[in-house]
Amino acid sequence: MSGIPHDHYAPTTKGEKWIHRRLPIVGLIYDTIMIPTPKNLNWMWIWGIVLMFCLILQIVTGIVLAMHYTPHVDMAFASVEHIMRNVNGGHMMRYLHQNGAMLFFLAVYLHMFRNMYYGSYKTPREVTWIIGMLIYLLMMATAFMGYVLPWGQMSFWGATVITGLFGAIPGIGETLQTWLLGGPAVDNAALNRFFSLHYLLPFIILGLVIVHVWAFHHTGNNNPTGVEVRRASKEEAEKDTLPFWPYFVIKDLFALVVVLGLFWVVVSFMPNFLGHTDNYIEADPLVTPPEIVPEWYFLPFYAILRAFTSDVWIVIAVNWLTFGIVDATFFGVLAMFGAIFVWALLPWLDTSSVRSGRYRPMFKWWFWLFIVNFVVLTWAGAMPAEGIYTNIALIGTTYWFAYFLVIMPLLGVLEKPTTPPDTIEQDFKESLKAKSGNGGSGPAPEQVPAE
Ligand code: HEM
Repeated sequence: MSGIPHDHYAPTTKGEKWIHRRLPIVGLIYDTIMIPTPKNLNWMWIWGIVLMFCLILQIVTGIVLAMHYTPHVDMAFASVEHIMRNVNGGHMMRYLHQNGAMLFFLAVYLHMFRNMYYGSYKTPREVTWIIGMLIYLLMMATAFMGYVLPWGQMSFWGATVITGLFGAIPGIGETLQTWLLGGPAVDNAALNRFFSLHYLLPFIILGLVIVHVWAFHHTGNNNPTGVEVRRASKEEAEKDTLPFWPYFVIKDLFALVVVLGLFWVVVSFMPNFLGHTDNYIEADPLVTPPEIVPEWYFLPFYAILRAFTSDVWIVIAVNWLTFGIVDATFFGVLAMFGAIFVWALLPWLDTSSVRSGRYRPMFKWWFWLFIVNFVVLTWAGAMPAEGIYTNIALIGTTYWFAYFLVIMPLLGVLEKPTTPPDTIEQDFKESLKAKSGNGGSGPAPEQVPAE
């Protein structure tokens, strides 16, 4: 599959030859798990596996929950209570699913930040990145609709606020909102279609994940140096890589066990830690909760959405220029979707000739500021939309757009990168030397296999 020269599957037994001639499935599996992988991958390369585990976990627990859930406004809340109290293992299934969504988002953000730091989106991996972005958008849609299903106060009011945003689109807004909801407000029709789509979308995500994996198997993985695997000969490629099985499978499984250990502690002892208590009150269209806060993984975008109040100069200017068509709410909606859009365009906005952040002295600072800003926006999104909080959200939003639209394009011109190693092999040997020199656990330099 990959352009890196390596041994391909050759059937040996009679049975293998029989099936290989008719359907080369064993060969496909072999080539997938024996794929040559850069040998210097660090621990930030584990999130892909964690993400795959999360997707499977969500599908399996979701299917079991759907066997007991009733998508009707009069019964949804009670059916979830029934799952929690009466269904065998239902309590665990629900908490696994609910917290599994949070682990999924935690892992996806770490995976995306890792890709940003090491420039994994740069040529030739733009398609892997874009497919990743599509997966991320579908994850957000799936999580949003899933949150409506328990029909608690936060489900109902969250859905009302978010679908209300479509109503802010000038001209077609109201028609679009009614079409999306199947009626003038969030009600039974909306709950039904959200359930249907919430069941469907994870399978579309699964399909996209297969294409995502196909794409990065085709280009080969990036690695912390950003230097490509040598492809001129099989011997050279073998010095830069190790087969995925058993080396990376063992490493990934070890990491997965550690992550799942922590996950299990959360599910068992603090399953509602990050949830909102109001969602244990049944939805009531006549009682607005004191605060409407989405789940934590939406908060940075919620902060961006609410940062643009009608007294912000850019909103005033755009409102004037568009003869009042773009008001503060619509501006906020554009900013929120725009924030994700510019993120997706990163492969074309980053103009640096060097891939990995390791060798980019200026980029590093801006990148870490981006991470801090992401955390600040998450915090601001959970605060009331007033006073100092909106000001902080506005500063955070400005940095978000500046990072992608100004800093990334300019850094490629202004920054003087340091020199990356010539080969992955060189980086690998140097890190082994450094580890053994520091009294670390790596083998002594003389133990490193000779070329
Ligand atoms: C269900 C969600 C996802 C799954 C299961 C998944 C899976 C994986 C796996 C297994 C890898 C290789 C190992 C690793 O890098 O950890 C990978 C690499 C990659 N992913 Fe994802 N991913 C997901 C979402 C995303 C998202 C949201 C993005 C970005 C928008 C993204 C961008 C990338 C890129 C650019 C690479 C290449 C990294 C490299 O070559 O080293 N992925 N993904």
